Amino acid sequence: MAKKTAIDIVNMKQKGEIITMLTAYDFVMASILDEAGTDMLLVGDTMGMVVYGNPTTLSVTLEDSIRHTQAVARGAKSAMIIGDMPFGTFQVSKEEAVRNAIKLVKVGNAEAIKLEGGSEFLGVVEGILDAGIPVMGHLGLTPQSYHKFGGFKVQGKTDEEAKIMIEESKALEEAGIFSLVLEAIPWEVAKEITEAISVPTIGIGAGPYCDGQVLVTYDMLGYFDFKAKFVKRYVNVKEQILTAVKEYNKEVRNKVFPDLSYSYKKPQQM
Ligand code: KIV
Repeated sequence: MAKKTAIDIVNMKQKGEIITMLTAYDFVMASILDEAGTDMLLVGDTMGMVVYGNPTTLSVTLEDSIRHTQAVARGAKSAMIIGDMPFGTFQVSKEEAVRNAIKLVKVGNAEAIKLEGGSEFLGVVEGILDAGIPVMGHLGLTPQSYHKFGGFKVQGKTDEEAKIMIEESKALEEAGIFSLVLEAIPWEVAKEITEAISVPTIGIGAGPYCDGQVLVTYDMLGYFDFKAKFVKRYVNVKEQILTAVKEYNKEVRNKVFPDLSYSYKKPQQM
């Protein structure tokens, strides 16, 4: 199957086709998500939380993002690979942002990058696009602004906040983004943005009226006890792993595993 591109993703909205995206951080998971027909794999900076166990995404480095994007890219035959720009890699200057985005593509093998934020980064978005790299925007609950927001909180709840977010979406579209993640905002606001811009919106906790959806894969597979309101668990992998590992521990301790059927026999010597 041919690799999906930013142009394909934009065309999907025009054709009324719903877009699926999931996060991936390693080769084996990327291969499975790709085989399942997922349109885009986001190597999100949520890796800081779900892979590295930190309380926020803020500690993720460009090197982390590059290393995990390389692994995911090796596993994806058709899904488009989005590399995430970690906190601190695009906020300081346009030049530094462009340099870091280029590294994510050149070394990490990303096929597009995502960055959080609105009108304050229009110049950065344009600079990265000028370098030939498609850009995915991200508005609403942008986790890199955790300290500014005072936690992980739903955004765009007042008319004033919603109006600003709609304006920012239009400005990002104008700057040239090929798609826009909308995170943890009221569905009414997400619907209005989706109708107002021609590039696809990809919702996470933004209701059913977006052009596509994204979830953190470990959340939808049920790896964690914590579940945000917007997460649907499609399987409880934590339960399955616990059952399997407890059984393994028991069998090894009771010398049930391995028996000779799992062992190599020394060949007969002539
Ligand atoms: O970093 C990430 O995984 C994300 C998604 C939650 C959209 O930004």
